[in-house]
Amino acid sequence: MDFFETVSKRRTIRDFDEYEIDDATLEKIIGAAFQAPTNDHMRDWHFMVITDRKIVLRLIKKIPESFSEKDMEELIRNWNLTDSCQQICYRDAVPKQYRMLADASCVVIPLLKQKMDMMHPENLSHLNGFASIWCAIENLFLAATAEHLACNLRIPLGDEGVWARRVLDFPEDYFMPCLIGIGKPSKDVSIIPQKEIIIKERIHRNGW
Ligand SMILES: Cc1cc2nc3c(=O)[nH]c(=O)nc-3n(C[C@H](O)[C@H](O)[C@H](O)COP(=O)(O)O)c2cc1C
Repeated sequence: MDFFETVSKRRTIRDFDEYEIDDATLEKIIGAAFQAPTNDHMRDWHFMVITDRKIVLRLIKKIPESFSEKDMEELIRNWNLTDSCQQICYRDAVPKQYRMLADASCVVIPLLKQKMDMMHPENLSHLNGFASIWCAIENLFLAATAEHLACNLRIPLGDEGVWARRVLDFPEDYFMPCLIGIGKPSKDVSIIPQKEIIIKERIHRNGW
């Protein structure tokens, strides 16, 4: 797949069919993650791949399985989501947080070695490790797209991160920035339109 076609085909997918991803494909996708830029040249990252459904269901136990219409209206109000395109996205995404991981072919947990207190950085450089793994995550998404697969991600809320460490037993000095679901898009997948951006208006040459 051509690079720009891959970039435009990469969309967050939360509806999956049952599908088994072979190990070679998974290795290729995770290998692409390791080719991302990195702040300290070390790429001290690990990727836990969870295919055992029992472990997946235990891992995501803290994520609400459903979300009522009333809660959704409240969320839209409280988070001040005034843009209609954004509202469409949240209305589709929020109720699927559990299912998008439960139905994925596998859940991938990226881990970075975090030396500084991520919640209290003293300067921007202290977040370099965090920024680097997000470059790796995007490489992983694009590689999955090129392999005709798709991904979603969830930022752990509340004690979901602590719970994930307990379930998966990863070391104390590694930090989980998100949970990633990878799978085969289902036939009736909903793909939410991206907000239209006029690129020319976002490019500022030689000054704002
Ligand atoms: C930093 C970050 C956090 C995100 N958090 C979540 C999340 O917790 N749950 C979710 O379903 N999607 C999450 N997303 C995915 C966005 O909802 C999605 O990228 C956005 O709606 C644009 O859609 P697209 O990826 O199809 O272009 C996140 C994306 C990013 C980059």
